[in-house]
Amino acid sequence: MKTLREYIKEAGDKKIAIGHFNISNLEGLHGVYNAAKKLNVPVIIGVSEGEEKYIGRTEAVALIKALREKDNYPIFLNADHHYSFEAAKASIDAGFDSVIIDLADKSFDENANLTKKCVEYAKSTGRDVIIEAELGYIGSGSNIKDTIPEGAGVKTKPEDAKKFVEITGIDMLAPSVGSIHGLIKSGKPHIDYELVKSIKEAVGIPLVLHGGSGLRDEDFINGINAGISIIHINTEIRLAFTQALEKYLKENPNEIVPYKILQSSIDAVEAVVESRLKLFNKI
Ligand code: G3H
Ligand code: ZN
Repeated sequence: MKTLREYIKEAGDKKIAIGHFNISNLEGLHGVYNAAKKLNVPVIIGVSEGEEKYIGRTEAVALIKALREKDNYPIFLNADHHYSFEAAKASIDAGFDSVIIDLADKSFDENANLTKKCVEYAKSTGRDVIIEAELGYIGSGSNIKDTIPEGAGVKTKPEDAKKFVEITGIDMLAPSVGSIHGLIKSGKPHIDYELVKSIKEAVGIPLVLHGGSGLRDEDFINGINAGISIIHINTEIRLAFTQALEKYLKENPNEIVPYKILQSSIDAVEAVVESRLKLFNKI
């Protein structure tokens, strides 16, 4: 099987994107995995610091490894939005395939210095761990918001991105190019694909699009064609899971068997992920 690094390179060459989907339980994992297997495409499972704490760091690594080995399937695990060197290091040590050190709300220098420290640590392990960092703040929290949070959405400048990548030596960059974390009731701005193109030319490494929930199909396609290789979706999955659960409990108030109650949530996650994977992989 190819490595995650090789799959990301291949996505760039083919002008498609690998889907990255967050989970916080086994039901979410089954939903994502079912969809990926149905389409036979590689997939990245993301766990943020909070999601990782809920599932368990070691448990998350073991679950993904078990699926990968059982089915010989390209499913990978990313430590999503880790906010300190210590948290990133713990996930590197636990065996994650990739780690995102997110210091986007800090100054350029602080972000660059700590990110560099993570890159150096990952290299020192001798394991092939991919390090991604963020430059440009796109808000935080995969939830439903009335409006774009204050301070979020200031776009990344190509010259800053170039400098940042040169200083840190990161493998992948998540720039701010129009998306915002969460579902914004008033709608999200379009992806600035001309900016994606300029940043990609300036840095020459794979680019990752965060805040994928609520974006228009054309934004994904334009972004992918301009140089995006991975796309993150979380809020849409959380919403599908919860809405399905609410509906099931309302319609079946006497049911108490967890695996019966939660099947509709697995199916709802699967449906969201399948439609996004079709788009990202141009199927
Ligand atoms: O890292 C997670 C993502 O960027 C999710 O963003 O909640 O807007 O889909 P989203
Ligand atoms: Zn994100």
